[in-house]
Order: sequence, then structure tokens, then C-alpha cells
Amino acid sequence: MQKESKNVLDFPKRFLWGASTSAHQIEGGNHNQWTIWELENAKTRAAKAEYQLGDFDNWEQIAAEAKNPENYVSGKLADHYNHYKEDFDLLQQMNMNAFRFSIEWSRIEPQEGAWNAAAIKHYKDYVEELKRRDIEPIVTLFHFTLPIWFAEKGGFEKRSNVKYFTRFAKKIISELGPSVRLVITLNEPEIYVIESYHLGNWPPALNNNYKCWRVINNLALAHQQAARAIHKLGRRYKVSISKNSKFYYAGDDALLSQISTAFMQYIQDDYFIKKVVKDCDFLGVNYYFTSRIFGNRTHNPNRDLSDMGWDLQPGDVQLVLERLNKKYKLPIIITENGIADASDEKRQWWITKSLIGIQKAIRNGAEVKGYLHWSLIDNFEWAYGKWPRFGLASVDYKTGERKLRPSAIWFGLVIKKIRKL
Ligand code: BGC
Repeated sequence: MQKESKNVLDFPKRFLWGASTSAHQIEGGNHNQWTIWELENAKTRAAKAEYQLGDFDNWEQIAAEAKNPENYVSGKLADHYNHYKEDFDLLQQMNMNAFRFSIEWSRIEPQEGAWNAAAIKHYKDYVEELKRRDIEPIVTLFHFTLPIWFAEKGGFEKRSNVKYFTRFAKKIISELGPSVRLVITLNEPEIYVIESYHLGNWPPALNNNYKCWRVINNLALAHQQAARAIHKLGRRYKVSISKNSKFYYAGDDALLSQISTAFMQYIQDDYFIKKVVKDCDFLGVNYYFTSRIFGNRTHNPNRDLSDMGWDLQPGDVQLVLERLNKKYKLPIIITENGIADASDEKRQWWITKSLIGIQKAIRNGAEVKGYLHWSLIDNFEWAYGKWPRFGLASVDYKTGERKLRPSAIWFGLVIKKIRKL
């Protein structure tokens, strides 16, 4: 037994410790496909809130916000676009050395083929500011939002539209130049497809399974083409996707439970990863859930729930990492992991369990290179709006004040110890 490796704080030396965000969820002032959809749907979403969320234990606490149409309009948010330096201070206060963010395509190319020089300069300055602070930038190119012109052309429904995304990828990465090394082309492609084309919760709000398959396959092509274009710019770029990865396990021995579990795992993870893995230098993994399957249904233990009613099994990140490591043998960066917890009662527990799980996976052979917590600051949680609070720092949307939550202050001290600062 190696005594040393039992130390909970024992992580690889150059491990990336950071937080994760996306443009539309924190920047404020965007104008894209989502902005329009938000304005069109805010009233309906507010009216349906009680019906959809009324059973939650925390309904009393969230009711006022959830029933207010303004909750569903992203608007100004934390105005991160203008206050990013303040937010980078938070990263430093937590002793972090990595930060994931997305570039808002609709800012860079507001009209087809028309590049916005001011927006390009903004993101260049942004990246340089991170570098000055010794923080590794991890750039996402698609995090669920599309420029209006691209959405009007049919978005990723059309294979012939993929070239526009590739062009954007090439343009912005060559503009950002060698300051960037790690690039995520697509965030959670299958979540985008399910929410936008199957459940109809996100724009273009369709329930069309045929389009689901078309879009998912076109997204695989989009990754492939963008990754190749970026690699052509330089082999120094390490490219991947951020895959929302779940672990599925059968709740009993019934044959149907076993078959459904294997099928769900394949559809959720492997279908897409297999299509893109050849063009990935590492795997970006977003971990939030484990699912226990009985027959063909999910019944989770629900012992601990987040503010959004999600079953919390933080330690199971280990199972996800070990499975992906065994199957794909690529280095892994956890590009998202976190919890909606406005009272901050569970976040420290969540992080502790997650770090222990990650460490166990590393001991069992997984090559995990980093952990990025979702999210740095409170964010716009898509169709749920502003009430879910994922931030390590809270945001007062009225005054713009951000404040590290107690769990974040604690996490910062843990990172300091681990990094021996
Ligand atoms: C997404 C984020 C989202 C987070 C919490 C991930 O699915 O990438 O945009 O805010 O989960 O729901």
C-alpha cells in the first residue's frame, strides 16, 4: 500500500483547476436565436411554472422568480461582457489556473460573412487578460446559441450549413492565435438535440425525431471539420467536445433492465463519441447525473436533490471517468460539474465527493487532466431562466454585485493546498 497516494489532496502536478461558463449564460446583451425565443416565450413559461415546478420542495422559495416573465429573459445578466476582469479576479481568489468560456458566434459574425472587428478584439483582450493572470483559457465554439442568420438558414439541420461553422471556427481560432491551446468545438451536442428537436423546450422548439438524427449527425460532421481546420492552423491546438456523460446502471437483474441500461448508455454517450473520437485529442466530460434503470424507466434514489430536483450522486463521476477511460483511452478534462444550490448547503459536499471520485478514477488508471466547476458565477439556466443558482459566486442581478459563496471560499483553500501555493 502506498501511503502517500491515499492523501485526498494528492492530484497530478499540472492539473487544471478552474471554473466553466458560456457566453449567453453570463455575458448579457446578446442578440441571437435565443434572445428572440426568450422574448416570445417568457410569458408562457412564467404561466406554466407552477404546473411544472410546483411539486418541488423549494417551490415557496423559487415561486416569485419562476412566475415572473422577466426570469425567462436573459437581458443584462451579470454583464460579464463588460465586467470580465472582476470575474477573473474571482478565479484568482480561488487559486484557479484554468477557465472555460464560450465565444458568442453571433457577436463575431452578426451577419453572414460580416466579421465584427470590435467583438474579435474583445475576445482577444479577454484571452490575453487570462494569460496575464496565468490562467489557461479553454475556448468553446458552440454552446447552444446560434446567430439569427444561421438559424434562419436551418442551422445544423442542413448538412450544407456545416461549412459556416467551420469557417467561424477557423476564423476565431486564427485570430486568437497561440494564446489558446485547448478548444471545445461543441458543448453537449446530444442535450442540444434533445431539448431543441425532441422535447421542444429550446429553440427551434420542435418535436421531430427525424430532425434529431439529422442534427446530431451534422454536429458530428461539424466537429470533424472544425477540428481538422483548427489542427491545420497548428498541431499545438488540442481539440475536443464537451460530452454530457451519464453513468447508467440497472436497478435489478431483469433482462429488460439490463438491455435498456446498455442501450441508454450507448445512445447517451457512445453513439456520438464514436463518430468524433478520431478527431479528439482529449475528451471533455460534463458530469451531472447517474441514472438507475428499472425495466425501461429511470428511478433514481433521490436521497439528495438539487434545487432543480436533480438526483445527486457526485461520487459516481468516478464510474463515468473509468468507463470512458477504458473505452476511449484518451486524456479527460472535466469541463463541467456542479449543482444548483441557492442556499449553498450542498455545494461543498458535492465538490468533496466529486474530488474523491475523480481521485479514485485517477488511481484506477484514468488520465484526468483537469476539473472545471460549473459555474464561475450565477448563470442564465436556459429554459428555466435565472432562478437556478449554479455559481461559485452569487450574482445580485439588480446591483451586479458578485460574491464568492462560502463553499467557493473553502474550495479556493483546498485548491491552494493541492497546488501547494
Ligand atoms: C450545460 C450548461 C448548463 C449546465 C447546468 C450543462 O448541461 O452545458 O449550459 O447551465 O449543464 O444545467
